[in-house]
This record gives sequence, structure tokens and C-alpha cells, in this order.
Amino acid sequence: MLAGKRILLVIGGGIAAYKTLELIRLLRGQRAEVSPVLTRAGAQFVTPLSVSALAGEAVHEDLFDLTKEAEMGHIQLSRSADLVVVAPATADLMAKMAQGHASDLATTLLLATDTPVLIAPAMNVRMWQHPATQRNCEWLKGDGVALIGPNAGDMACGEHGPGRMAEPEEIVEAIAARLAAGPLAGKRVLVTSGPTHEPIDPVRYIANRSSGAQGTAIARALAALGADVVFITGPADVPPPGGVEVVRVQTAAQMLEAVQTALPADAAVFAAAVADWRVTTQNEAKIKKQAGALPVLELAENPDILAHVAQMGEGRPGLVVGFAAETCDVIDNATAKRVRKGCDWIVANDVGPATGIMGGTENAVHLVTGEGVEDWPRMDKALVARRLAQRLAEALA
Ligand code: C5P
Repeated sequence: MLAGKRILLVIGGGIAAYKTLELIRLLRGQRAEVSPVLTRAGAQFVTPLSVSALAGEAVHEDLFDLTKEAEMGHIQLSRSADLVVVAPATADLMAKMAQGHASDLATTLLLATDTPVLIAPAMNVRMWQHPATQRNCEWLKGDGVALIGPNAGDMACGEHGPGRMAEPEEIVEAIAARLAAGPLAGKRVLVTSGPTHEPIDPVRYIANRSSGAQGTAIARALAALGADVVFITGPADVPPPGGVEVVRVQTAAQMLEAVQTALPADAAVFAAAVADWRVTTQNEAKIKKQAGALPVLELAENPDILAHVAQMGEGRPGLVVGFAAETCDVIDNATAKRVRKGCDWIVANDVGPATGIMGGTENAVHLVTGEGVEDWPRMDKALVARRLAQRLAEALA
């Protein structure tokens, strides 16, 4: 069932780490590949030698191991797996994850990864029940992190209650469930992304600024939840994610056609920054620059793909999500846009130059739905994507 799947396994520093050796053995028994990462505290409970012997792979321990950095950087390591598993997830590791620390190899990998994360908490019952841990837990869930356990029972510290790490067999089951069928399994979701280029002549074009980073992250997050994703992208700066059907287009007209071909879908997310206008008459040859004579470009309005799909009646996806990139009155404009376009949700963001959002790695968005406006904190675009994907999964359930 897990044959060929790669698990990046982060072993935290708790007494339950001894059970992680059994977890590795079970995973290997199912022919999964295990890349082990041992924290400094984890190495107090299990030795690198026993971990690597069972995993059949070298243990990664040090962020600043330059030899390994030359072979495989930590970013690549964090993204090379099908699933990241943290077992045991100690209170300290969970707090660092919730806060976004990157103070050692394990936390850096967890911050850098764009792969789904499953954690198996293990700690003293009081530590587990502490409001700080419960708060961290909620934050992590909000970030799309999945939890297995902890179980209730006798603890190594002599107390009784919730805090025991889930048993290795249960963790393997949770891993299999995450990898087999996510909450969006069987759902077809269409995502548009990137800019469109509207040619003026063979060398010039009209476009909106867009790196495609947010749309790409959304497609990746939806696929990670098991969705069957059709990713329709204009000429973006970032490469499309793996595991999705990619349709490349240049112009808005081509994007509309690709969207119509890709329908029907259960949901559609329109993250593309479609150019509003195109030049009516195509110039076959490059327009020559002539001193004192400016070319006159006659513009025509491009089709509004989002509005078209949102208002199509029969065959309309059950959930239609648009984006609103604004530089002022973000929420008012987005709220009006949701009604005007007829979509269900609008993901609104302020893309004024001062925010650094355009082309950057972070985003601060507001989710405008029929129920009202949710302000999401500023976070990595991958996290915005995961949270949105999670919301989609809940809405389509
Ligand atoms: O009208 P505005 O461009 O601000 O709306 C943004 C939303 O509409 C985005 O979701 C974008 O993908 C979508 N859109 C579209 N087709 C257009 C223009 C925008 O699908 N021609």
C-alpha cells in the first residue's frame, strides 16, 4: 500500500522516540522509503545508528552539514517526500512549528516544506492540556497540519491521561490514509493561474503582473488533499506543481477556451491575473518605431472568465472562487466584486507595492463569503493555499 512512497520522518526528543524505531520498521515492511531526521533532543533517546540501520538511509541531523547541503539542500529534502511525519511531536517542536521557528534542521524542514505534514504528539498530560499547547494545536490544524493521537493511558512519567504517542500501527494507518485518499479524493477542481499575455505584435504584449506563485501553491495544496486538479496557467514565473494536469495558455481567450474544455468540475478557483484588454487587430509584423508618430492601439475587453463560469447556470461548478487583487478599499471592493461576478467566495488581498506581496512569498488575505469576511493573518503563500484547500474540502464534503 505504501510501496514507493517517501516519508520524511522527523524524530523529536521524547521517550516515545523508541516507538519510532518500530514505526520505521513497519514503514519499511510496507516498502515505503524513510528519510529520517533526528533532532538533537531526539538523539538523546535513540541513536543515529539504530535509526539509519532500520531506515536503510543516512540520518539527517545538522542544518549546517555542508557536505549534505551540496548533495541535497534542506529545501529539496523538505520537498522530496510524499508526506512529512513528526513522531514524537514534542510540546517544544509543536510550539516551534506553530511559531514558524527555523532554528535547527527539523524546524527548518517543517517551515520550508510544501508537503502535507502529519504529527504524532507525545508529552506529559499536563503539558498536553496546557492552554499554550492546545493553542498551538489549533494553529497547526489551521495551517493544515494533521494530527494522530495522542492517546490516553499510562505515561512513562508515571501520570495517566492523554499524552501518549499513538502506537506505530496507528501512525502507519494514518500515513496510509493521508497518502491514499485525501478529503478531496474524487473531486475535480479547476485552477487558473499566472498572467495572460495579449499580443500587440510578435514582440510586445499587454499583461498584468503575476508570478503565478499563489495559484501554483493552491493547485499543489488541492492535489495534496487528493483532488484531481486541472491547472490552467498563463506564462508564469514559477513552474507548475507535480501531480496535476497542466494546460498552458497565453491569452485570456485561450484561457476561457481551456476552462470550458476542462468543465465540468466540482469547484473552480480563478487565481489568474487575466489581462483586462486585448488589442483588437493583431499586427502580424513588429510595429516600427517612428519619431513623432505614436501607434494607436485599439483595445477590446477580454472575456471575464470568472464571471462567465460563476453565472453559467447549468454545469456551473458547485463552488466558484475568485480573487481580488486590490490596492485600496480591499474589503469593500472584494465584497462588491463577489456579488457582481456571482461567485461564492472571493480571496481578497492588498497588492500595493508597500506590502511586498506581489511576487513575494507571503500573502495576507481576506476570505469574503456569503457569511461575511474572515481576515487571515499574513502567512506563507503555501499556507494560504493549504488553508484555502482545507476550506474547499469542508465545503465540498
Ligand atoms: O475584475 P478583476 O480582474 O479584479 O477580478 C479578479 C478575479 O476575476 C480573479 O479571480 C481573476 O482570475 C478573474 N478574472 C477572470 N477573467 C478576467 C478578469 C479577471 O477570470 N478577464
